[in-house]
Amino acid sequence: MMTSASACGKIILFGEHAVVYGRPALAAPLTLLRARARVEPRAQSGILIHARELGRVYELSAATPDDALARLTRLTLDALNASANLSIEIESDIPMASGFGSGAAISTALARALAAFFDKSLTPLEISELVYETEKLYHGTPSGIDNTVIAFEQPIRFTRRPPPARNEIAPFLIARPFTLMIANTGIASPTKITVGDVRRGWQMDPATYEKLFDAIGEIVAQASSALARGENARLGELMTRNQLALSALGVSSREIEKLLDAGLRAGAQGGKLSGGGRGGNVIFMIDPRDAENIKRALLDAGAASVMVTEVGAKH
Ligand code: MEV
Repeated sequence: MMTSASACGKIILFGEHAVVYGRPALAAPLTLLRARARVEPRAQSGILIHARELGRVYELSAATPDDALARLTRLTLDALNASANLSIEIESDIPMASGFGSGAAISTALARALAAFFDKSLTPLEISELVYETEKLYHGTPSGIDNTVIAFEQPIRFTRRPPPARNEIAPFLIARPFTLMIANTGIASPTKITVGDVRRGWQMDPATYEKLFDAIGEIVAQASSALARGENARLGELMTRNQLALSALGVSSREIEKLLDAGLRAGAQGGKLSGGGRGGNVIFMIDPRDAENIKRALLDAGAASVMVTEVGAKH
């Protein structure tokens, strides 16, 4: 019998990059965008993977060692203690290398569809841990925040802890929903590169980088308490402060700054890049009444696309 499952994208609200170095970060699911996986029995032996967005159809047995879908399939089948001849199809509306967690979403959808196919269940934490193994293929030192927020599909405050300690994963309270505008630069920027560049910077000048990570950690603490108290008016300014620290880490870009400038001039309350940076997306705290103006300004400034999402609202 055919089974299918989906998984959402994600937005990092505060704390990216510093989260790789043990500082907390806040991320929320982006339910507007989803990846889907379909699993069905196959007459021939072996497992056939059809990745629509990549335009690739291939046998699992022929996959290269760095193939994330193949790795996730093998790990999930091991975890489920299952095997079968299967045909797997993956599709996704989540733009790749854009800071929306497309890789983690595809892997999560696939792990869920495989579990459903074998009529077994995997907890969000189990799925998150399987997906983390594939995240390592995308970039060597992922913090684990993307797989966590996507597998749990709820706002998460995440703090990485080195093994044998467990990462701290806590749903965070959003007392009052707020509106985010998300502008995509249209520039694909693999997380691996920005995370690698920050690592090299940190190795060359640990004191400066540690200070910036601490500053970001402090912004995350203030944002958590503002969110919990419904003090949403503080969030815009905190985002802009977070952006300044990200820019000092070297992960902003001319295109990101241009969108930030346009959004803020058009009335956004604050904004920052979200995810790995250098491209990908920029998020803004907005009053929904200003949405049309800000959207127009962002498109005029070169945004490839603009979306509006409510964070903290029940879907
Ligand atoms: C990527 O979505 C977020 C980064 O902090 C990397 C990571 O946490 O693995 C840039």
